[in-house]
Amino acid sequence: MANSELALLGGPKAVQTDPEDMFTWPIITEEDEQAVLEVLRRGGMSGTDVTQEFERDFADWHGVEYAVGHSSGTAALQAAMWACGVGVGDEVIGPSLTYWASVLPAFSLGAGIVFGEVDPMTLCLDPNDLENRITERTKAIIPVHYCGYPCDMDAIMEIAEKHDIKVIEDVSHAHGAHYKGRLVGTIGHCAGFSVMSGKALAVGEGGMFITNDELLHERVIAWGHYGRTTLWAHQRSLPGSVAEALRGPPLGRLQVPDAPVVLRLRPRAAQALQGPLRGDPEGHELFLGPAGGRAWRARSPAAQGVRLRLWRMVCLPRHLCS
Ligand SMILES: Cc1ncc(COP(=O)(O)O)c(C=O)c1O
Repeated sequence: MANSELALLGGPKAVQTDPEDMFTWPIITEEDEQAVLEVLRRGGMSGTDVTQEFERDFADWHGVEYAVGHSSGTAALQAAMWACGVGVGDEVIGPSLTYWASVLPAFSLGAGIVFGEVDPMTLCLDPNDLENRITERTKAIIPVHYCGYPCDMDAIMEIAEKHDIKVIEDVSHAHGAHYKGRLVGTIGHCAGFSVMSGKALAVGEGGMFITNDELLHERVIAWGHYGRTTLWAHQRSLPGSVAEALRGPPLGRLQVPDAPVVLRLRPRAAQALQGPLRGDPEGHELFLGPAGGRAWRARSPAAQGVRLRLWRMVCLPRHLCS
């Protein structure tokens, strides 16, 4: 396999074993279809009832006070940044390896982006580099639990608290992952999740914001959910991006209770790839890492531009399997 052309470009696939009865993603059941049809048939696509029920389910799953649905993960992260006070002339710190949406919304708020190094094994924001990136303008740190691997949150929170900076976890790759027994997304001051169909909670284009902080919640509501405000928010409504009832919430309501079970399926895909990849002379291998609580997330390393000792993907092995 050494020096062969990438499978992406027509070369041989690295894993040629039969995936047998491997599931494909996303898993959509008849019940899911019915739930979407029900919203369509009653013409409730722009309502917020299902969305708010989904938010309650999501908050309960994470054991937090507040969850607010958004039209995308990017929108949830943008709202989180605004809620944390990120504005013109400020800076946010994000990892130098992530999907752009983790940090790009800072630009739309007039802020700048500072990239911190990532740990070469976990590919998550390296706390040893983080303090070097902090300036008097830093308003938020955005750790991304990259490809399902939990960031070193204790170290990140310690630095953030020392400098009085807010931490917005980007949990778009790590729904259901744990850090020292706690669900990721519940450790920082707030968190944003993408729930688009490639993600572990795959409910369609959509995003979720969660927090235990009442003020951050108020501000996120003010940012875009002006139809459902408290007085404070009502006076300051801004044109943020809301979730509507059709794209996601009906599916999300069904999937949240099953999430722990469904997420346990994903390591099966990891196992199916790990065996054939072990010993590959090109150095492709899955990084399982020391943390017990990681979640599994699909990632095409070629698309990511990563040259792959640390290749963690999983769940959509179709581009590798014959
Ligand atoms: C790490 C990360 N953050 C944020 C996002 C943005 O989510 P969305 O596509 O729902 O806007 C993504 C999307 O892939 C992502 O991978």
